[in-house]
Amino acid sequence: MRKFVRLALIPGDGIGKEVVPLVPTLLERFSNNFDFQYTHFDAGWEYFKQNNVSISKNTFDVLHECDAAVFGAVSSPTEYVVGYKSPIIELRRHFDLFANVRPNKFEFVRNNKMHRADITVIRENTECLYISQEMPFDDDVIALRKISRKASERIAKFACKYHKTKNSAIPLMICHKANILPFSDGLFKKTCIDICKRLGVCCDDQLVDSLAMDIVLKPSKFDVIVCPNLYGDILSDVVSGLAGGLGMSPSLNIGDKFVIAEPVHGSAPNIAGLGIANPIATIKSVGMLLDHLENTSKYADLISNAIDQAIKNHIDDMTPDIDGKGTTVSALKRICEYIKA
Ligand code: NAI
Ligand code: MG
Repeated sequence: MRKFVRLALIPGDGIGKEVVPLVPTLLERFSNNFDFQYTHFDAGWEYFKQNNVSISKNTFDVLHECDAAVFGAVSSPTEYVVGYKSPIIELRRHFDLFANVRPNKFEFVRNNKMHRADITVIRENTECLYISQEMPFDDDVIALRKISRKASERIAKFACKYHKTKNSAIPLMICHKANILPFSDGLFKKTCIDICKRLGVCCDDQLVDSLAMDIVLKPSKFDVIVCPNLYGDILSDVVSGLAGGLGMSPSLNIGDKFVIAEPVHGSAPNIAGLGIANPIATIKSVGMLLDHLENTSKYADLISNAIDQAIKNHIDDMTPDIDGKGTTVSALKRICEYIKA
């Protein structure tokens, strides 16, 4: 039976407006399995300039009637703007989307040696510096960073469950900086180790800085990495760099009641409007979403295979960031040809 899904589409700004509107074309390939009803929402910096809010209260109300969403990207100013809040941070908070899953599978040759890796960064998605509590302190500024036992336990349990589904011989890697932050990151580290012991998951831990280096030099040493929010944001971009760039990197924001597919990239103002944004990050994110909705792992694999085939056989139709000569639309079209759901 076809599964009925009310899916919200929130393109945002810049290339978000180019990749998210293609999602219904992609999902036509899955019409034997799913029946999608779409609702469209504006949010982001352009929306803020017209409405003085970056995402409306009505959007949150209507999203409660939806089963899931696809979020593109927004532009966020790098100076303080009264009233502006990043919509994706607001959405993660509002729906308590505590886990951000960022997988990347890739291979490359360096110094005549083939490196193959399949790394998933699992990012705690609700606290750390993302509580956005900055305050003046004399002439200076202090930013608060929250690491709670509850959120650390929750993300550790999630990471353990994820690690078990991968059936990997590589231990779950706990990322921290407890040498400098023994209370906050110490709590994260200890909580994760305790949960791993309790759930029988083999784990290891490493300081975030040397871990970043090892990801670049020895990527096959890693499988699942669990991190506090900021380290997860940064490390997942490091992995993306090895996997072909941000145009290739998907993510899924997961809570107990709601889920948002979101490419890892931002609004890419340097290429916005040119029609050359790589749609693969969004396409893969949607694959992860379909798997989540049906509690399976077949759709993400099916989509990844289609992407591999399209890249192998039609590189000219892919986007310039991965050495193609094509457009967002030509890349999507080729990938869709290989999806046989
Ligand atoms: P970015 O991800 O927008 O771009 C970084 C680089 O990757 C650029 O060279 C860009 O052209 C390239 N790139 C990114 N996605 C691509 C794609 N799909 N296809 C081809 N090339 C791609 O990050 P940046 O430049 O640091 O930030 C730009 C804006 O995006 C900022 O306003 C930032 O706040 C926002 N941002 C928003 C996010 C979100 O809404 N979730 C996440 C990250 C950044
Ligand atoms: Mg980021």
